[in-house]
Amino acid sequence: MDRWTVTDGTDTASLSGDPERWLVELNISEPAAPGDPSDERGTNDDRGRRLLEAATQAVVIEGGGRLEYWIERVDERSDEVPTRAGFVPYRDLLRLRRQLPALPTDLVVRAFRPEDAEAFIECNNKAFDWHPEQGDMTPEDLAAKQAESWYDPEGFLILEETDDDGNESIIGFCWTKVHTDEKPALGEIYAIAVDPEHHGRGLGRELSLAGLAYLASQGLRQAILYVESDNKPARKMYGALGFDREFTSRAYQRIVR
Ligand SMILES: CC(C)(COP(=O)(O)OP(=O)(O)OC[C@H]1O[C@@H](n2cnc3c(N)ncnc32)[C@H](O)[C@@H]1OP(=O)(O)O)[C@@H](O)C(=O)NCCC(=O)NCCS
Repeated sequence: MDRWTVTDGTDTASLSGDPERWLVELNISEPAAPGDPSDERGTNDDRGRRLLEAATQAVVIEGGGRLEYWIERVDERSDEVPTRAGFVPYRDLLRLRRQLPALPTDLVVRAFRPEDAEAFIECNNKAFDWHPEQGDMTPEDLAAKQAESWYDPEGFLILEETDDDGNESIIGFCWTKVHTDEKPALGEIYAIAVDPEHHGRGLGRELSLAGLAYLASQGLRQAILYVESDNKPARKMYGALGFDREFTSRAYQRIVR
């Protein structure tokens, strides 16, 4: 929910969140022609900087905290405005893409069942304990995602293993998502992980292929995914699977006292 909206009548900065993570989003309407100094509202850079400074003031009034700002599809100039407004880049998220279909796989997976929730969350939280958003999933977080319109258990692939005593446990998953609103429709590897005790056995690669095969079976011809720039194991795996970088989105932050 927006806590503040800062506007000068034309442009808007919307602030949401709490002191742990304030998020500001800018909406510059009717942007000036690039570099046009004759626009009385200033250049787009001036307008962006002013909005970020206004959002920072709003956070001061709220008692301070960590303020985050994202730019989608960064280019070589993207850092200028946030840097001039006192923000520093701290996180790059890459979007990768490849064509479908990919290679087939023999890995046996099955669709998510409601009774998997607890074991899935345990596997997820172990594998993503280092991740800023994905690592402390609660049953409520999972239920909220499963209530979204795109959710389909058939595309939420679960990998189980039976131990010597006959006990089954979830040791990995590949959760896919179909973007029907995109033209053409896009498939996504939305979340994928292998229990750390089972890393390095080739399961991540085969789970990826299982997810891609599922997306291809839905008639999709393009697959995307998002990966942190510093996630070396995942980047190496995706590179070997034929994914290429499409664009980078960058998060900036400013600690406001
Ligand atoms: C990424 C992840 C799913 C890989 O699973 P895995 O079962 O260990 O991977 P695999 O054994 O199938 O390895 C596949 C390829 O990934 C790469 N890879 C895997 N682990 C690696 C590591 N620690 N360092 C470098 N490359 C690695 C290698 O290229 C490997 O192929 P190779 O063995 O032929 O060289 C796993 O590390 C994981 O669950 N990580 C945490 C969750 C995560 O980051 N998910 C992706 C978010 S986008």
